[in-house]
Order: sequence, then structure tokens, then C-alpha cells
Amino acid sequence: MDLGIKGRKAIVCASSRGLGKGCAIALGQAGVSLVLNGRDRSTLEATAEEIRHATGVTVTPIAADISTPEGQATVLAACPDPDILINNNGGPPLRDFRQLERAAMLDGVTMNMVTPIELIQRVIDRMSAQRFGRIVNITSISVKMPVAGLDLSSGARAGLTAFVAGIARTVADRNVTINNLLPGYFDTDRLRGSLRVAAQNSSSSEEAVAAQRAALVPAKRFGSAAEFGQTCAFLCSVHAGYITGQSILMDGGLYPSTF
Ligand SMILES: NC(=O)c1ccc[n+]([C@@H]2O[C@H](COP(=O)([O-])OP(=O)(O)OC[C@H]3O[C@@H](n4cnc5c(N)ncnc54)[C@H](OP(=O)(O)O)[C@@H]3O)[C@@H](O)[C@H]2O)c1
Repeated sequence: MDLGIKGRKAIVCASSRGLGKGCAIALGQAGVSLVLNGRDRSTLEATAEEIRHATGVTVTPIAADISTPEGQATVLAACPDPDILINNNGGPPLRDFRQLERAAMLDGVTMNMVTPIELIQRVIDRMSAQRFGRIVNITSISVKMPVAGLDLSSGARAGLTAFVAGIARTVADRNVTINNLLPGYFDTDRLRGSLRVAAQNSSSSEEAVAAQRAALVPAKRFGSAAEFGQTCAFLCSVHAGYITGQSILMDGGLYPSTF
């Protein structure tokens, strides 16, 4: 399918690995030029080269912590007028909520709620003026369903979801959409890290823990960053202009609801 966004410009935050990288590749395949972001410069440069080679689009890597005002300014300086913004970031570490100090709570809220809102503030008026804009926030299944140890992530992301729900309606008539993509279990470094910790705590192998986790999913497998990216690219396409303010689960059927 031609997504109709060839020649558009995207900022994809936190995209040197994992889900963000999957989104960047899919947008690149659709002909969108990219600002790629991550903190580790060598990983970022390698991913930028991989996507340039695979898609032929212009890829500008910006090594910066997207949670900081300086990091955001550097990313926006590389592309002040994006047509597409993919909000992504690291997630807070797994932790019992009793162990969360005030500073850790504020960091979590900054990463997963304040940062995407700040970036939306910076880009939305230009998108509205040009009558095209697509914003996708990568959040989590934990917005809909508690996940032990991820309460801070759930709270911050639910706050973001509620915050943007109203904003999405104010720009819908300008062909600017804001949607949230909620991953369940996706096979990325982050998931592998949590499987390693679970394996250490249970004296099972990482493979055994991974198989048990995947067996909980009706699809009986983890999702891939590539399929996540393709869904994100569709939400950014010309065909998705009537989808806004939605939270779209990608979880292989894990969340057991009728609606
Ligand atoms: N994978 C899943 O199953 C799953 C499920 C639910 C929710 N999520 C959420 O989805 C998001 C992406 O997850 P993932 O699995 O793709 O993680 P990942 O494999 O660990 O990749 C994270 C990416 O974000 C970059 N990054 C992290 N912190 C950053 C920062 N402060 N500034 C700029 N870049 C940063 C990392 O690069 P550097 O480390 O070099 O900065 C890397 O490119 C996370 O918020 C995660 O909690 C994931």
C-alpha cells in the first residue's frame, strides 16, 4: 500500500533500537526522511546507516537524552517542522512502588508524560497551519492493565493518554491526529532484559522464562519491532486521517476484553 507520505519529515524519538527503530524503518520504507535519536552515539550511527542503506531516505542521527530540555532542543533544531512525531522513550525500571523515592517518581513522569507533551507543544501549531500532522505516542499495555513493578510507567502513560485525549479533538479539523500505540510483549532489548532478571530470580533459563511468557499470549509469541513499526507507519499515513484520540493495543490478544 502506498502510504501517501513520501517526502514527509519525521522525528522518531528513542529510535536507535527496539520499537522506535521499527517505526523509523517503516517510515523510511514509506519514503519519509528521518531524525533518529538515542543516547548512545555509536549504536545510533550504526542504525542510521542501516536505515539509509535499506531505504535510501535521509537519516539525521541526533545523540541526545530526549527527556531533557537540551536534548529536545537539539532534536528539534535538526527538524523544526516535522510532519510526523513519534514520541518514544525508555521506560522506568521494574520496581516495587514502595521503593520509589520522590525523585524517581518525578523522573518517570518526566520521561513518559511530560517529555511527549513538551514535544507536542513544540510541533502542533506548525502541523495545524500546514493541515497535515501525525503524532503517535508509544505507551504500553500497562495503561489498560496493571503490570507488577511497572506502576510508575502505567501512571505516567495513563496521564499522557488522558492529557492528549482532549488535545487530539482540538486539531482534528486541521488533519492533525494524535494516537497512542500500546505494546504488549515485543521482542526487544528491554523485554530481553526483563526476561534475564526473571530468569535470575527464578533459577530458570532465559529461554524457559521467555517460553512461559510467550505462552500467556493468545498469539503464542512475542511481537516484532517490524510489525509494530508498520502499524505506526499506517497511523502516520494519509489513509489514517480519520483515526484520532485512540489507544491501539498491539498485544497478540493478551488483554482479555471484548471491546
Ligand atoms: N518491548 C516491549 O515489550 C514493551 C512493552 C510495553 C511498553 N514498552 C515501552 O516502549 C518503549 C520502547 O521500548 P523498547 O522495548 O523498544 O526498548 P529498548 O529496546 O530498550 O529501546 C529503547 C530505545 O530508546 C532509546 N532511549 C532510551 N532512553 C532514551 C532517552 N532518555 N533519550 C533518547 N533515547 C533513549 C534507547 O537508546 P539509548 O539507550 O542509546 O538511549 C533505545 O534506542 C519503552 O518506553 C518501553 O517501556 C515496551
